[in-house]
Amino acid sequence: MKLELQKIAKSFSDGENQLNVLNGIDLSINNGDIITIKGPSGSGKSTLLNIIGTIDFADSGSIFFDNIKLNNSNNFEKFRNENLGFVFQFHHLIPELSVEENVKLPFLISGENVDEKYIDDLFVFFDLNKKRNSFPNYLSGGEKQRVAIMRSFVKKPSLILADEPTGSLDEKQVINTIELFKKMNSQYKQTLVIATHDNRVFDIGTKKFLLNNGVLSNI
Ligand SMILES: Nc1ncnc2c1ncn2[C@@H]1O[C@H](COP(=O)(O)OP(=O)(O)OP(=O)(O)O)[C@@H](O)[C@H]1O
Ligand SMILES: [Mg+2]
Repeated sequence: MKLELQKIAKSFSDGENQLNVLNGIDLSINNGDIITIKGPSGSGKSTLLNIIGTIDFADSGSIFFDNIKLNNSNNFEKFRNENLGFVFQFHHLIPELSVEENVKLPFLISGENVDEKYIDDLFVFFDLNKKRNSFPNYLSGGEKQRVAIMRSFVKKPSLILADEPTGSLDEKQVINTIELFKKMNSQYKQTLVIATHDNRVFDIGTKKFLLNNGVLSNI
């Protein structure tokens, strides 16, 4: 897979003032890259990930996926369903579904057979077997975050977008998550784009960027 962002610009208005969050971002994401992005709170990391994930839209600029321009709801949806896993900053688990159902959701949506073996492995890896039948509202922040990470990985999507994926994790689970990211990247050539304030996570990047004042710079 190859994703190409060209001159992505985005601003928000709070009624009075216009806030230019992204000022013409260019970024090439190639198969097997681990792209890590850091930057001050409010610099636009989540905005950028949401635009890459086509759940928000740029004011101007283009995104090409495998050289095809993403420009209508058909190819947005196809891109999301077939290629993308998302770990949101605020988890977005479905409260009415059990932990296990949340993790299996990508399979339930696509109607494919559930990869039970891989899911069992993930539950062991993240030490969550005892919570399989719990519901999200009864989990700690770190447990919710691990469930969200598992959900993003179950279908081994070619591109994972992870927004501050370790913000509520303890030391051991941060190390575990880093290990999982590296393993999935080397075993399945999964491409990762990670926004993070955690330097340990930032350092796994094969391409590292700072987002500041609307500009992405290579560091
Ligand atoms: N829907 C929106 N409407 C208005 N302003 C918004 C909206 N979404 C984001 N913003 C503003 O855009 C800026 C960038 O927000 P964003 O969430 O992308 O930052 P961030 O880098 O992810 O920050 P953090 O590190 O705290 O997660 C912030 O100033 C925020 O207030
Ligand atoms: Mg954010």
